[in-house]
Amino acid sequence: MTALEGKRFSKTSCRSQDAEHCMGKGPVRCAADSIDAGPPKPRAPTQPISAKSRQIPRRKNEHISICLKKDVCFRKTNGFERYDFNHKALPEVNLADIDISTTFLSKHLSLPFFIEALCGGSSKSIQINRNLARAAAELNIAMGVGSQRAMLKNPELTNTYQIRELAPAILLFGNIGATQLSELNTETIINMVQTIGADGLVIHLNAAQEMCQPEGDTDWRNVYFNIQRVCAQSPFPIIVKESGCGIDAETARNLASAGVACIDVAGAGGTSFTKVEAYRDKQNSQTFDEWGIPTAESLKRCRQSVDLPLIASGGMRTGIECAKAIAMGASLVGFALPLLQAAIRSHCDVVSYLLQIANDLKKTMLLVGAKDIAALKQVALLQLSSYAI
Ligand SMILES: Cc1cc2nc3c(=O)[nH]c(=O)nc-3n(C[C@H](O)[C@H](O)[C@H](O)COP(=O)(O)O)c2cc1C
Repeated sequence: MTALEGKRFSKTSCRSQDAEHCMGKGPVRCAADSIDAGPPKPRAPTQPISAKSRQIPRRKNEHISICLKKDVCFRKTNGFERYDFNHKALPEVNLADIDISTTFLSKHLSLPFFIEALCGGSSKSIQINRNLARAAAELNIAMGVGSQRAMLKNPELTNTYQIRELAPAILLFGNIGATQLSELNTETIINMVQTIGADGLVIHLNAAQEMCQPEGDTDWRNVYFNIQRVCAQSPFPIIVKESGCGIDAETARNLASAGVACIDVAGAGGTSFTKVEAYRDKQNSQTFDEWGIPTAESLKRCRQSVDLPLIASGGMRTGIECAKAIAMGASLVGFALPLLQAAIRSHCDVVSYLLQIANDLKKTMLLVGAKDIAALKQVALLQLSSYAI
């Protein structure tokens, strides 16, 4: 039995006091999440905070509430249904021997998964980030926190991102919006990442969301220059991601020449942030709800253009989709909305969700005769139809 199988079937898999949750018993509050975690409240500010800065925590809470209560997903798919595996009727592999551990940016991960940037900087973020961190630690996977802009504007909110103590060994990433870089010197950015004990920084691109936000940043000049500056001066790796609209080939090439360590395509097919903004402001039209390159198409274009590690995210919801993404060249697969829905309940629900995906990934690997991630990367996919159709 592999370590992962052990996690699925052994009651010792969950280090919380209520280990039943990790065996998929449904959304029950986990004792460890409510008792020993003892989440700190955001501290009261000691200095006056500007009206614009005060909006950030409110906006973050609104994003979380809307994502939990409304249908925020694209109608269009992530595009992986356009690809299929060739079924191997004689796989010659033992499911129990399948190894889905991997190395990403020189760090060993037990599963090829990334907990995408979700929150920080608001009251609702604290417990969510803590539950995500506990799950990341338990599964030994990578994790990013949400945009740290709120803590730069109001340092009293720093504790809403501080999860390092709960997950001392995970590969952890800070996060900032690309348009914010123009107002930050590199020292401030490095300090922001190091304050939360992160190993690297994710810079997010979200032009479509900003266009749909009443208070959004609409000046996207010099963003490339600023990414290049941060990459050149940063002592840690920089990942650049989209936020649900995908990355095209030319952008991928530009990011590679700017010096990024990895691109997270974050394509369309899952959470639509233009749709989220339309719920926030009734004046907003729904014109851009479906804007973006589907994740599979973005991954394919990026893989053909650059020789960098890639993360496939944006509507990734099944083990088969994960297997397809890895076969198409992704190093890791990232998840956001389903983990928010799980983390609002307990860290055990996050573990349970990801173990289900991991087990389906392993079953898919057996059905294509791949015993590990390196073998899966060599498996050819059949393209059933093209994106243009
Ligand atoms: C409530 C919420 C907040 C998010 N906040 C951030 C953020 O601060 N920074 C960021 O880079 N992406 C953020 N994202 C985007 C996700 O990281 C991810 O790119 C996107 O949701 C698509 O993945 P999904 O379809 O699995 O949800 C957020 C997503 C959600 C649902």
